[in-house]
Parts: sequence; C-alpha cells; structure tokens
Amino acid sequence: MNTFHPDFLGETARRIGLKRYPNVRQFVVQHLYPDTLRLLLLLHDFVAIECVVGIGYSGNESVVDALKRAGIRVVTPAFADLEHTVREELARALSVCQTNNLKLILHEVGGYAIKALHEHFAEACETVIGAIEVTKQGVWAAQSLPELRIPQVNCAQTRLKEIEGKMVGEAVVSSLDNILRDMGYAVVGRAALVNGYGWVGKATANSLRQRGLRVSVNDCDIIKCVEATVDGFAVVRQPSDIESPAIVIGASGRESISAQVIDNLPDRCFIVSGASKNHEADLDHLASLTVRTRPIHRHVDAHTLKDGRTLLLVNKGYPVNFTGSSVPDEIVEFLFAELIMLVPALLDHDLEPGIYPLKDEHEQIAAQIWLDLR
Ligand SMILES: NC(=O)c1ccc[n+]([C@@H]2O[C@H](COP(=O)([O-])OP(=O)(O)OC[C@H]3O[C@@H](n4cnc5c(N)ncnc54)[C@H](O)[C@@H]3O)[C@@H](O)[C@H]2O)c1
Repeated sequence: MNTFHPDFLGETARRIGLKRYPNVRQFVVQHLYPDTLRLLLLLHDFVAIECVVGIGYSGNESVVDALKRAGIRVVTPAFADLEHTVREELARALSVCQTNNLKLILHEVGGYAIKALHEHFAEACETVIGAIEVTKQGVWAAQSLPELRIPQVNCAQTRLKEIEGKMVGEAVVSSLDNILRDMGYAVVGRAALVNGYGWVGKATANSLRQRGLRVSVNDCDIIKCVEATVDGFAVVRQPSDIESPAIVIGASGRESISAQVIDNLPDRCFIVSGASKNHEADLDHLASLTVRTRPIHRHVDAHTLKDGRTLLLVNKGYPVNFTGSSVPDEIVEFLFAELIMLVPALLDHDLEPGIYPLKDEHEQIAAQIWLDLR
C-alpha cells in the first residue's frame, strides 16, 4: 500500500465522529483495489464485515490477502458467477446474523445484493437495516423492484459523483488506447460512436475527441442529443445512420449496442463497454452470428461472423477500464468519503423503505476534506 497516500477516509471518520456499531454486520459487494482495501479496513472497525464478494476479480491477491489477514471472509467469483455467489453468501450472512441476533447492512456497488435479498430472501428483510450504494446502477436496481422493503441510502447522483464521471470517461479511453497501442493501432483519425451521453458517455466522447478521433453520439433521450449537437458532436439517431465507426462504445448503463447496431457495424469494428457490467452489447446476438472466436490480444476477441465481417469484442463485453488502472484512487476516495457518511445516515435514523440520496451538507464535508488533505 502506498504509505504516502493522504488518509482521506480516516480523516472523514474522525471529522464526522463515526462510531462503532457492535450489533451490526456488513455484507459487501465491492471491487478489490487498493482504494477499496483502505475503505474496507477502515469500515470493518466500525461495522464488522461478514463477507466481501469481489466484483470482476482480476487477481489483486495482495488486497484479498490483506482483507483475510484482518479476519474478513472474502470470495472472488468470476464475473459470470457473481450473482450466484452474492445469493449464496447473502444466505450465509443472513443466517449468521439471525443466529447471533445481529442486524445486517448491505454495502455495495451495482445493486446485486439488494436484488438478491428481495428476489430470494424477502422474508429475511427484517434482519436487514438497509443498503448503502455507490452507483446509479444500484439505484436503478432498487427502483426496478416491485416493492422496495428496505431503505437504500446512496451517493450515486452527487455532484462529486458527476465529477468522477469525467475521470471514468478518461479512464475508459485511456484503457482502450493502451490496448490498441499494444495491438499496433493508433486511435487518432479513427471514427468512434458513443452510445449514451450521460456523465460517463459525455466524458468518453470528449476524451476521444481530445485524442483526435471523429466522434458521433447516440442517446435515447432527445434532449441529450441536442446537448451533444451543441457540444459539437455528430448525432446518430437510428442504427441505420451509423457511419462505419472503427470503435463503438456503450456508456448507457443498459443495452445500447443492440442487435440492430451490431448488424450495422463495419468489419473490424471494436465493441467496447464503458459502463459497469457486460450488458452494453447484445452479446447473445453477437454469439448467434459468430462462426469463430479467437483471442487476438489478452483483452480482445475477434468474432468472425456468418456474413464475413469480423467484430472485435473488448474485455468480453465488460468495462474496458476494468482491464487495468482505472480512475486514480484519490478521485475514487472522495466518493468513499461520501460512502462513509452513508453509514450513520443509515444506522442513526429509523428510515422507512425508500431511496435516500446523500445530503448536500455531507457532500460539502467530503469535498472540504479532499481539498484540505490533497
Ligand atoms: N466503468 C466504470 O468505471 C464506471 C464508473 C462509474 C459509472 N459507470 C457506469 O456507467 C454507466 C453510465 O453512467 P452515467 O453516470 O453516465 O449515467 P447517466 O444516467 O448520466 O447516463 C446514461 C445515458 O445513457 C442514455 N441511455 C440509456 N439507455 C440508452 C440506450 N439504450 N441507448 C443510448 N443511450 C441510452 C440515457 O438517456 C443517459 O443520457 C452506468 O452503468 C454506471 O454504473 C461505470
């Protein structure tokens, strides 16, 4: 661990007077990076962690070892097994809490546990005080439940999270650029299509433009299309209008590289996700068209299709920036400071089921600490 790293998180806990909650346990679904290690080790002192399920485990063994040394149970499923593992581990954590008369909170990125709780263990909701969530994806997961039975407090739509979105777009493009360089390609002068012109998509489009690509944008929200036009991007309104991009990137949080889009992509087009899961491209459709797949780079598979085209799928459709260093830790940590503040926001109040964003005044504290310590 970098010992020169400012202690943003410890300082946050001190400034807000975070206290210990001995009768509560945490069930965590998180990435396993050095920044999350700092967060989890700190939070474990205040709300003991029952289990950490690692998302998109990419072999960060030192993080796993450090968590285990702290006495924390860690499981590291492959992406494809994540939902199944969350369900199994949640069953275990609920049972431990019920046996020992403890309460549980969910601490997660992406809404996996809140979904599993409602779909498989609804009768155990009274053991769960609530969930703390970092991403819009997780808020969308809670919103999609027929009946939300617990409170979810989140820092998914704060102003600092929007600022992080800029860095995510930059990380998406820089990870992609690194892969293309490895393969001997230059991105400059190529055409790219970005699907989704939200926080991440807008930053992705700008970052591509800064690297000399010709960028088009598509968004299902017509107002976003106007914004992209005013920002100087070409806007694609129908898949049939796509003009041979060399790269198509999904940053919508939903399926945006649809079957129709895939059918219109030119030969040797790279298919890339900048979101948080593997749902941007219709991978089933791609598989149904594919006659042969072969790896041409550690993070790129060439899909040769029945019609003779070859499409180049990056990181098997998972976010490209999960292939290496993504957003710098010190940026992510202002969000983690917000996440720490969600703990008392959830545990010190008797919240009804519902979705609760972090309050503005709490966000100000995170911003102050970040500027003070940087
Ligand atoms: N890769 C990462 O490290 C990382 C980090 C943060 C967030 N994310 C993820 O990025 C995704 C986008 O986040 P955001 O904050 O930009 O969200 P956002 O809500 O600001 O933007 C999403 C945009 O996509 C548009 N959209 C939705 N469905 C579409 C479709 N089918 N086709 C075209 N456009 C569509 C929406 O209208 C919206 O403008 C989320 O899944 C989020 O979890 C990824």
